[in-house]
Amino acid sequence: MNKYIDLHLHLDGVVTVGIARALAELQGIELPMDDGQLERLLTVPEDCSDLNEFLKCFGLPLSLMQTHEGLCEAVRLVGDSMAEQGIIYAEIRFAPQLHTDKGLTQEAAVRAALEGLGRTKLKANLILCAMRGDGNEDKNEETLRLAQKYLVKDGGVVALDLAGAEGLFPTEKYREFFAKAQACGVPFTIHAGEADGAQSIRAALEFGAARLGHGVRIIEDDELIELVKERGVALEMCPTSNRQTHAVENMSAYPLISLLERGVPVTLNTDDPGIEGIDIAHEYRYMESLLGLDEVQERAILKNAVKAAFTTDEVKVQLMRELCNENMGEA
Ligand code: ADE
Ligand code: ZN
Repeated sequence: MNKYIDLHLHLDGVVTVGIARALAELQGIELPMDDGQLERLLTVPEDCSDLNEFLKCFGLPLSLMQTHEGLCEAVRLVGDSMAEQGIIYAEIRFAPQLHTDKGLTQEAAVRAALEGLGRTKLKANLILCAMRGDGNEDKNEETLRLAQKYLVKDGGVVALDLAGAEGLFPTEKYREFFAKAQACGVPFTIHAGEADGAQSIRAALEFGAARLGHGVRIIEDDELIELVKERGVALEMCPTSNRQTHAVENMSAYPLISLLERGVPVTLNTDDPGIEGIDIAHEYRYMESLLGLDEVQERAILKNAVKAAFTTDEVKVQLMRELCNENMGEA
């Protein structure tokens, strides 16, 4: 089986019909529809117009992760499923503030996810997402506090992120927030250059982002391309998501290979595979058929992922070894 690494996927975006049914049953929640209807509710409509509409698909998966057992089991199930797909390392992100509808505190949500992480067979870490929006500043501060409190080098919470509607709430608005994260020593990635352009990426880099979520609109600015190369800031690229949210209109010009050839540390990820109706293997096959991505380039992309991972050097050495074994046909 091929081996993969996924550095950019949202817990609430990985819920398949099977996982939804299992989580509902565990919590005594009724899902009164057949599998076809459930699948339609869980996946993005063909005519999705933009990221704002895409983000409306998360209501149902989130409703199944509002209790300790629901959230813990979600991480375990999602992790086990990813391990079965050949993923040897993943960073699963989620926003604790979106898991408080039934009375969990953000901290209880983090603990539940950590418990699930301890139960899955997948080698993985967690990234806590702050959310773009108005009026949730205190919630984001709490997320940052928890990221600092639970931060480890490996085996738990390893970084912070900013997710949500980039087109509605510009990255610039979060300058102070990330200055605090920097001061606390919490490493972070930021969704930037997805629904907004180069200025969003410029702000994320000014704040000190170690990686960029998507970052695909970096092609608008050569200076920024040089800057990420110089700093070794990896791009977490997610092609199907970018097509569905219309972050990229002309997919035949998708800049994965062109950026790789220019020396940008690009990685290939799923974002929200449940919502998108895909998995990690699909993204590799998609880029092979669309752009002619070859094995050498795939190996370079996986190595970029290892280098960019929020984990220890020891784990990185181990991951490189696992990838090499695969390349030599020993897997
Ligand atoms: N949350 C889930 N998917 C997202 C995306 N593609 N962009 C921003 N926030 C998200
Ligand atoms: Zn994302």
